[in-house]
Amino acid sequence: MKIVTATPSDLPDIVALLKAAALPVAGIENHVETTLVARDSERLLGCAAVEVYGQAGLLRSVAVEVEHRGEGWGERLTKAALELARNRGVRNIYLLTTTASHFFPRFGFAAIPRSELDPALAQSEELRGACPASALAMRASLSTSAPPSPQSSSPPPVPRR
Ligand SMILES: CC(C)(COP(=O)(O)OP(=O)(O)OC[C@H]1O[C@@H](n2cnc3c(N)ncnc32)[C@H](O)[C@@H]1OP(=O)(O)O)[C@@H](O)C(=O)NCCC(=O)NCCS
Repeated sequence: MKIVTATPSDLPDIVALLKAAALPVAGIENHVETTLVARDSERLLGCAAVEVYGQAGLLRSVAVEVEHRGEGWGERLTKAALELARNRGVRNIYLLTTTASHFFPRFGFAAIPRSELDPALAQSEELRGACPASALAMRASLSTSAPPSPQSSSPPPVPRR
């Protein structure tokens, strides 16, 4: 089982996982290139996606199959997604959550008023209604949480094709 960049053929499994986790699926098909999956040849057990809008990013669709939660996959996927976002030039990354506000502070996220969401994120399906208005908004600065040297950062996931 390893974390790799998603391909379009992963979409049905990703959508099924998101639905099972009661997360929005709208728009995920537009961000496959910046979606990571934890999978082996037989199955997909987790995913995490980043929507990139210039220097602003949206972390979304962080989900792990129920029977594999608590094994560290959520943390590994989130860290890899933040590294992917940093490599794409994202400086500030945001998320919306109704269920996991206590999971994300360990990665540098802190709650913010929705009015502080970067205006560029208005293009996202999540902001355009897929995510409930009651969802908590959170932000992390990738520039300040960057690893001290390139040598110490984990390598980005290898594209599968
Ligand atoms: C949130 C989620 C992805 C975490 O995945 P996971 O593989 O179970 O997480 P990990 O095993 O890496 O857990 C890392 C730590 O986070 C904690 N944690 C896991 N889920 C949590 C949650 N919902 N709230 C708070 N803490 C959580 C674990 O207890 C663990 O703590 P520890 O390091 O002190 O032992 C998973 O619970 C999930 O798929 N939830 C449903 C979808 C969801 O809410 N996604 C987030 C919104 S995008």
